[in-house]
Amino acid sequence: MTNSSICEIDGVKGNLYYRGYPIKQLAAKSSFLETVFLLIWGELPTQKELTEFEKEVQMHRRLSFRVRDMMKCFPASGHPMDALQSSAASLGLFYSRRVIDDPKYVYNAVIRLIAKIPTMVAGFQLIRKGHDPIQPRDDLSYSSNFLYMLTEREQDPLAARVFDKCLILHAEHSLNASTFSARVTASTLTDPYAVIASAVGTLAGPLHGGANEDVIAMLEEIGSPENAGAFLDDALTQKKKIMGFGHREYKVKDPRAEILQELAEELFARFGKDKMYDIAKSLESEAISRLGPKGIYPNVDFYSGLVYKKLGIPKDLFTPIFAISRVGGWLAHWREQLGANRIYRPSQIYTGSKNRDWLPLENR
Ligand code: CMC
Repeated sequence: MTNSSICEIDGVKGNLYYRGYPIKQLAAKSSFLETVFLLIWGELPTQKELTEFEKEVQMHRRLSFRVRDMMKCFPASGHPMDALQSSAASLGLFYSRRVIDDPKYVYNAVIRLIAKIPTMVAGFQLIRKGHDPIQPRDDLSYSSNFLYMLTEREQDPLAARVFDKCLILHAEHSLNASTFSARVTASTLTDPYAVIASAVGTLAGPLHGGANEDVIAMLEEIGSPENAGAFLDDALTQKKKIMGFGHREYKVKDPRAEILQELAEELFARFGKDKMYDIAKSLESEAISRLGPKGIYPNVDFYSGLVYKKLGIPKDLFTPIFAISRVGGWLAHWREQLGANRIYRPSQIYTGSKNRDWLPLENR
């Protein structure tokens, strides 16, 4: 059990709050960078603070040519999460002063990580296609610029607005596995780049951030809305988990899934529907009748993949995008951990053999 003042989840009513502000309000009214500021420093920024924060982030988006060259040596077939974990960790080589009790160092590390992680994700995408990464554009907002660096063209403002809301929705979620991993790493007083790299590695697993990638694969496998019930019966008989469903905290539909579904519908209304959406809705209603009584409902990953797919984002970038967003929450936890630090050392109960005598090889 640990105390935290960053995020509160009401899993029974289906509410989520960042620093006391309901997620629905933040998604409707805030921007990702404003939300990150709130998470990390505990209060909404004033206009002056926000302008300065946005400007600093904008100025630090570029990567050193050494980082870009290192990324060019990564295998194109490697998973972008592995590329991101390695690239994020490499920042520790460039900014190696480990003075985590200096507020200026902390501020600069926050700026660098928030600014450079999207450039790394977009950069690896272009590199693996055989292109050179393109430079960020200072006239574009955080989310517009990311979509521009990823797709090499400026996107519709609606796409950028929806993407920014997705980032807000994924920015923080209390002591999930990757955040716990970040806090454990932070508690050793290592540098923030190692903290973020360890969290990225934890987020990569299919039971955590990797689930939205699997949701799309599952919808493709189902193939049509009529097949959803039979697919579920078969999967549940085989004791398989239905991806995008279930959550340790929520016993109702995840509030983020509700908002993501609305965002998906907004995109479909403007850019045309995705037939996967009908399969998803059919799967949701069939799953609720089977899993609802156990408190298993769609989680954040169920509709996020459909939103990203409509934005033209490749499946294996869904989790790196989760990381772009969650870096805000991880950094908030990094600061909170350092504020009252004690190294994590969970106790264990030993269950192995005892007092054994070593045997020579010929006697084993
Ligand atoms: N499909 C079918 N059954 C499920 C599911 C599911 N998605 N989730 C939980 N259950 C069942 C599980 O089989 C178990 O049943 P029983 O008591 O009969 O053995 C019961 O519910 C409790 O499951 P659990 O695995 O002990 O629950 P948990 O709190 O440890 O797991 C979870 C939470 C998210 C890992 C799990 O629900 C799951 O694996 N979901 C699918 C993967 C997924 O969507 N992950 C994204 C999580 S949200 C975003 C994030 O955190 O990154």
